[in-house]
Amino acid sequence: MDNNNYQRPRKRVSKETARKRQLIALGVIALLVLIFILLIAKACSKDDTKKGGNTKPTENKNSVTTMASTTQDGSMTTTSTTTAPVTNPDGSNDSGFKLDKYSIYLDIGGTDMPYVQEYPEGSSEADERWSSSDEKVATVDEWGHITAVGAGECYITLRSAADPTKEIQVKVVVADGNVQQTSNNTNGTQPANLAEAPPPPVYDMDGLTYKDGILIANKTYSMPADFNPGLEPICSEHFQALSSAAAEEGLNLWIGSGYRSYQDQEIIYNNYVAMDGVEMADTYSARPGYSEHQTGLVIDCNTIDDAFGNTPESAWLAEHAHEYGFVIRYPKGKEDITGYQYEPWHIRYVGSKVATECYERGICLEEYFGIDSYYH
Ligand code: DAL
Ligand code: ZN
Repeated sequence: MDNNNYQRPRKRVSKETARKRQLIALGVIALLVLIFILLIAKACSKDDTKKGGNTKPTENKNSVTTMASTTQDGSMTTTSTTTAPVTNPDGSNDSGFKLDKYSIYLDIGGTDMPYVQEYPEGSSEADERWSSSDEKVATVDEWGHITAVGAGECYITLRSAADPTKEIQVKVVVADGNVQQTSNNTNGTQPANLAEAPPPPVYDMDGLTYKDGILIANKTYSMPADFNPGLEPICSEHFQALSSAAAEEGLNLWIGSGYRSYQDQEIIYNNYVAMDGVEMADTYSARPGYSEHQTGLVIDCNTIDDAFGNTPESAWLAEHAHEYGFVIRYPKGKEDITGYQYEPWHIRYVGSKVATECYERGICLEEYFGIDSYYH
């Protein structure tokens, strides 16, 4: 009996222990399953990130058009100037490639070639693979020589053969070559009929401010984040005309920066704020939504730094921009009115009527329209 009595409790304890062990085992299994699920989920999310990392620059490149490479779009210095469908404020994306330009504007038959300044790790010149998104607009050969074939826009992609996930794109805009040029041009170098640069287009969109048919963008007047016109053909075409006229005098004017979306400007502006603080950044860089570059009617010429102001190109631009419908938007001596430091390179297309009057009267756009420019 004693033995029996002794064994019963032992049996009961044993069952409890077994139940406990079962519970512990179940717990461990559940934990292992959970860890397994977490590991799988993490692996998947890594994959997604990787895919995103590869595709994002391309998506951005399509929406972003122009910007300057390591540029201070103000009076600060810059190492190179580009127009860039890019992700980063330095004109690059995360591909490892770095080019000297990211946008090219050509007339039909024109050629150009972006110069590759940096390659992804493990890649070299021999690994360059060039392709065009639309060969009816522009073709590209194996060395990156681009030829404009037909009016329109396309992207030229440079991919690394060593690592095809590394790619960068250059936007190509081909003009149809029908820019109205001066008709009574007698010496072949000077445009004569200045009234031929028509006013820019008017968009019917809430949140835009027009004065006499001219879109206003300054510190007082902003644009919606989804206002995305791209570089206006009327602007690029007249710039081409301007640039050709300068070339006839042996001068070289090119697009350093053109259209910038709200999102581009956000990156650029935030970068400057991080470098110089808000107060200083506000003197040379517009806040997102307030940059004239978002209008699609602005071009920054050549290298965006103060040195440009001492070049013959800058002097020529100051004297002739209005003939093609452009104003020097932020003139010297008007800083308190425009709200920005002098920018000899930043020209804004307004059409020759407004541009010529601003030029002849020596006034800036704010004075012309009687408006202010400050963040409210
Ligand atoms: N540099 C001019 C003000 C801009 O950022 O639009
Ligand atoms: Zn500018």
